[in-house]
Amino acid sequence: MDKYDKVIDLCKRRGFFWPASEIYGGVAGFLDFGPLGTMLKRNVERRWRETFIHKNHGIVYEIETPMITPSKVFEASGHVENFTDVIVECTSCHKKFRADHIIIEQAGDIQGIEGKTVAQLDDIISAKNVICTECGGKLGKVSNFNLLFRTNIGPYSENIAYIRPEAAQGMFTNFKSIYTAMRERLPIGLAQIGKVARNEISPRQGPLRLREFTIMEVEFFFDPKSPGCSLLEQVHDKKLRLLTEDLVAAEKTDPVEVTVREALSEKLIKSDWLAYFMALSTDFISELGAPHNSQMFVGKLAKERAHYSAQTFDQLVKLDRWGWVEVSGHAYRTDYDLSRHQQYSGQDLGVFRKYGVPKKTRVLVAKPRVDLISREYKSETGKVLAALKGLDAASLRSMLAAGSAVVGGHAIRPEFVEFVEKEESITGERFIPHVAEPSFGADRLTYLTLECAYKEKDDRTVLSLPRSIAPVKICVFPLVNKDGINEKAQAIFDAIRADGYIADFDDGGSIGRRYARSDEIGAPIAVTVDYQTMQDETVTIRDRDTWEQSRIQISALQSYLNGYFSIR
Ligand code: GLY
Repeated sequence: MDKYDKVIDLCKRRGFFWPASEIYGGVAGFLDFGPLGTMLKRNVERRWRETFIHKNHGIVYEIETPMITPSKVFEASGHVENFTDVIVECTSCHKKFRADHIIIEQAGDIQGIEGKTVAQLDDIISAKNVICTECGGKLGKVSNFNLLFRTNIGPYSENIAYIRPEAAQGMFTNFKSIYTAMRERLPIGLAQIGKVARNEISPRQGPLRLREFTIMEVEFFFDPKSPGCSLLEQVHDKKLRLLTEDLVAAEKTDPVEVTVREALSEKLIKSDWLAYFMALSTDFISELGAPHNSQMFVGKLAKERAHYSAQTFDQLVKLDRWGWVEVSGHAYRTDYDLSRHQQYSGQDLGVFRKYGVPKKTRVLVAKPRVDLISREYKSETGKVLAALKGLDAASLRSMLAAGSAVVGGHAIRPEFVEFVEKEESITGERFIPHVAEPSFGADRLTYLTLECAYKEKDDRTVLSLPRSIAPVKICVFPLVNKDGINEKAQAIFDAIRADGYIADFDDGGSIGRRYARSDEIGAPIAVTVDYQTMQDETVTIRDRDTWEQSRIQISALQSYLNGYFSIR
């Protein structure tokens, strides 16, 4: 068994997670989380929330929007058209495969496969003689398969909706009303943690590629004319390992290590806010257990990027079986989404940029000669004036310069309109904010945390989960179940829980077996109550990682635990 198999085996045995609907054979791409897995995943989400939202309170706010979303939203976002993977079907047994994956499986890694067209993939399949892995049959033509899960709202088949494949769109469609409610300040970030669904063609990497998963995203809106990040000072000297687009294009695989300051001054990252979030992500992923040198950000080439992105870095972490795996995506989405929603909804999603000093400008004003127009058009005069009002003065003047013009079906002669120039004071202008987006999958991070924590020591499994993430923080053991020891341990257990810690009480089997069980679920501390406790009010504290034991007064236990768990 490799590490992946061992972690998956432990997850099932200890109740972290396993394939969903397992009693009916399970279905690929869906997970059921048990008690420990749910607690672990919530801790990952909590630390993400603390890092990306609470730490930035006043700038970033959490919101919640539905999973089921009317089709219009995803028509506007471009997902109906572009959110596809490449699919190929066996002409003999009709099994369907993800085309790029079956090519890589049989022909090895092919540089830039993500960005290849269906025709190029067809050519590779013939050239490399890629065949059906099920029956050896010939593969058909590659086509695009849309990954949106489609449904209907209510009993009306025309009310088409999709389960959201990203939470981002809820942030875009609500941007304007939240911006207004939050006193019209930019920059502002909106964040969501919630379920999304993607109808993956043939997911085969367990918790790493799911059809339904929890996404954690920030859409950070800023003025492209004031793109600076006010929080950059906090991360300026942090190191990022970047495999830039240029390095990717040159087929290099070793990243450069630069500070955030250098990455921005050398224009390796196009947005200060994107760089800020990449620095937070590096620390966050390190906290989950992946060392800095097993992480890197890989720039996506234009042909590999999602349709909305002007620059994307995928954050990758090296895993035991799967190699470099994406754990977050950082996209500079520019004004793409808001502009599209403005276009499709007909709502003004722009905001007002006030000038420091109003600008004086000369403007051309068209003044219709009502006397002449009414003489000509009598009762139609109102309609003619309304049609003229709808035209911009400069366009009207150039139309009339060429002779008479037809406006709203009425012939307008040059003498019907006088043009004057006026000086006006302009206080600002409207614009569509730009967006930087960090996006994470909570389930994948939960697996990552488990794999990073998985260790074997003297034939035992130890989950060295970070203190902040471990689901069970403390195990309490009475050495024996007699002479008042159990009751004493129970009282200590109650006090620990009253302090807000998730703790387990275990009085079954030998003390060695109990320590082994607590190591296996990653509880950082075990507290043992024994005969000495009954004499001197001390307990044994045992550390999961060092297995070292020390004695401590019960009266000092609370402050010991508070100190211990204040360190991540
Ligand atoms: N919102 C990021 C993604 O869809 O992957």
